[in-house]
Amino acid sequence: MLTRTFLFMALLIALIPLNSAYSASPDRYSDFFSPLSRRADSLKNPLNPPKVTLGKMLFFDPRLSRSGVISCNTCHALSTGGVDNMPFSIGHGWQAGGRNSPTVFNAAILGSQFWDGRAADVEEQAGGPILNPIEMASTEELAVETIKSIPGYVSLFKKAYVNDRDPVSFENITKAIAAFERTLLTPSRFDRYLSGKKGGLRSDEIKGLDLFVSKGCAQCHNGMGIGGGSLQKFNYGSDEGRFNITGNENDRKVFRVPSLRNVERTYPYFHDGSVWNLDQAVKIMGRKQLGTELSDEETGLIVKFLRSLTATRLTIKLPVLPPSSATTPRPDPHWSPEPIENSPVETPTESETTSEPAAEQQQIPSM
Ligand code: HEC
Ligand code: HEC
Repeated sequence: MLTRTFLFMALLIALIPLNSAYSASPDRYSDFFSPLSRRADSLKNPLNPPKVTLGKMLFFDPRLSRSGVISCNTCHALSTGGVDNMPFSIGHGWQAGGRNSPTVFNAAILGSQFWDGRAADVEEQAGGPILNPIEMASTEELAVETIKSIPGYVSLFKKAYVNDRDPVSFENITKAIAAFERTLLTPSRFDRYLSGKKGGLRSDEIKGLDLFVSKGCAQCHNGMGIGGGSLQKFNYGSDEGRFNITGNENDRKVFRVPSLRNVERTYPYFHDGSVWNLDQAVKIMGRKQLGTELSDEETGLIVKFLRSLTATRLTIKLPVLPPSSATTPRPDPHWSPEPIENSPVETPTESETTSEPAAEQQQIPSM
């Protein structure tokens, strides 16, 4: 009897510190983070089921590209964290863009879009890649002509945009895609923790979270996205960041703070995809953004916390797309833009030729 009571007491004592670590009040961090909302609706693009269904089909449809082989899902594959896991994405004609593809998961809740924050929201963003000559290389007219030639789509557009006289428009294509993106929210165990639910963080992950806050990471990576809310200087690589858009000296090397949700899956890291290892990315952040050398142990704990931001129970059903018709424009994978006539083409000197690729990569055509 005595031994049993003793064992019970011993167990209780052993459990207390553990237990208190488990439930370590998530309220302490309510200034920094908030759980992911269930919806990301938009006043200018209200969600409705037919629009979302249509947007999902368009997201997966390579016929929105001139080549007929590139869809949004090519570079933002939903089966691999919403990215292509390439340093730079490969687009039309096997051309590499100048930046790493960020995830489409949870993009809708971020304060701005792109590494340099040059688009306000997913609606503003969605048309860009379709028209970008190094991505899907289409035109508004071609995209609309293609969709109008597919009877299955025409009826879906009528259902999604009941009040429109001409439902198949480029704007409605982009709005439907954006509406689908607004549903790509991925709650994680961290959200359970923040809401005080069971199945939240484990004790090592809480230690990592404590370090994430005490070291200063949460000064920039905060809010519902654990990032995505502000633009910050990151003096790294050759990309001038927001300066390329505004020409403002203060914007040199300024980048939108990325969301760290699903970061475990969105390698390689940074705008130039130069770092494949999450531990290394965290150490670089410590050094560059906080002027501190994180130890291997601290880094390991922070990474454990970051892994708790991975989506739980994510299932996405592949949409079946309506077939083309006899009038659907044929895929044109070998298309390349007409050379612009009358433009003074200078013969580059030897040194200019060699430095050209790097300069080209910095020129990111707006999407
Ligand atoms: C050829 C590859 C490619 C294709 C195709 C592509 N994207 Fe992207 N996407 C990128 C790259 C690269 C970026 C980052 C560019 C930058 O920041 O300058 C990006 C950025 C984004 C962002 C911003 C995310 C954030 O965190 O800022 C969203 C949203 C997005 N794309 C959605 C789409 C949609 C929707 C489509 C289809 C209509 C699409 N993309 C097609 C490569 C691609
Ligand atoms: C001063 C603001 C700031 C602080 C502090 C900061 N970060 Fe960042 N973080 C950024 C910015 C900006 C980027 C985007 C860098 C780029 O352009 O590639 C980034 C990128 C990252 C990435 C790569 C994400 C990706 O998808 O490529 C990780 C991981 C990361 N930060 C983790 C951390 C951790 C961990 C800490 C604390 C040790 C931290 N950050 C501190 C601003 C900050």
